[in-house]
Amino acid sequence: MQAVVLVGGEGTRLRPLTLETPKPMVPIMNVPFLERTLVRLKEAGIDDVILPAGYLPAAISSYFGDGARLGLSIKYVIEETPLGTAGAIKNVAQYITGPFFVLNGDVLTSLDLKKMRAVHEEKRGLGVLHLIRVADPSAFGCVVHENNGKVTAFVEKPKREEAPTNEINAGTYLLDPAVLDLIPAGRMVSIERETFPLIVAGPRPLYAYTTDDYWIDLGSPAAYLSAHHNVFDGAMPLGIGQGTNGPGANACEANSCVPPVFIGNRVRIAPDARVGPYVVLGDGCTIGAGASIRNSVLWDDVAVEDGARIDGSIIASRTTVGAHAVVRTGSVIGHGGDVASGSEVEENARVTAG
Ligand code: GDD
Ligand code: MG
Repeated sequence: MQAVVLVGGEGTRLRPLTLETPKPMVPIMNVPFLERTLVRLKEAGIDDVILPAGYLPAAISSYFGDGARLGLSIKYVIEETPLGTAGAIKNVAQYITGPFFVLNGDVLTSLDLKKMRAVHEEKRGLGVLHLIRVADPSAFGCVVHENNGKVTAFVEKPKREEAPTNEINAGTYLLDPAVLDLIPAGRMVSIERETFPLIVAGPRPLYAYTTDDYWIDLGSPAAYLSAHHNVFDGAMPLGIGQGTNGPGANACEANSCVPPVFIGNRVRIAPDARVGPYVVLGDGCTIGAGASIRNSVLWDDVAVEDGARIDGSIIASRTTVGAHAVVRTGSVIGHGGDVASGSEVEENARVTAG
């Protein structure tokens, strides 16, 4: 079976993290997010993967290559200009040989793809859409369906007061290849705004498959931090626990780590630093004497100098947080950032280097 993973988005809401790292390569517990998705596909018996990309595609293809390391065959199809979520699928139609999964590339979920496949085989419609229930559906695609699952309306990003349901499109579809004939070629097409409404108005039905799996769209800094929190707490099962995790866990000396934490390779932590709870340190990070880091994710090679304080923030690779600097909640610091010694980064700041 095949899967198309949509990885062409620019990840605007995650800037400045995505200025250098495309959204699918943003790490979850130090592993590119897309790798976690690909492993999940492999575990479900799907080993033929097509990646429609366009934004910083070399960062993706140079990391995964032909997919052999993960036991997959990966094809990259690069869009010169973004074709939209359906246009990107139409653009790979030549490679599709049967019913295929489509995954939004920025969703972290525990959905069982094999069960979803069984639903499609039972229903025999044009496709099955995975749905979940959320408190505020206005940032998503709302999907209305009958009791037997038949979809009767698809409304992308309605106003909150106009949302017809709290069941939303969770960004995993299993589609019959006949859907490809309903997408016009050579232009931008949104599957949510154009293709799904067209199918709903036509003769062959789409079916909804609602689950209460763990699910999050990683598209914003707050969601990115929540996802890590949820992995530590076990809500999203990735085999990472409440303790001191990761290949560099032995860098936690004395009482320097307050679990849960995840520590990468080649990390150095001063014995009187305080790392945690809910902290991820990427490979090669150094944490100086008396520094304190809580509820934060640091990517690779971040230097936190003596006495610096970081809370509730995301810090991209190669950043230096100078001695006694303070990084306040909700901040995002881009690659190669330099927070001057003794300075303060205010709440929810976005800091781009240079
Ligand atoms: N190749 C390609 N080309 N990929 C694209 C393009 C494009 O032009 N535009 C978006 N993508 C990819 C993004 O990289 C992402 O993985 C996925 O398509 C969805 O795009 P987002 O930009 O993240 O959309 P969204 O989060 O606002 O809304 C979508 O996801 C929600 C669930 O997370 C919609 O599908 C909603 O209906 C859905 O509820
Ligand atoms: Mg998204």
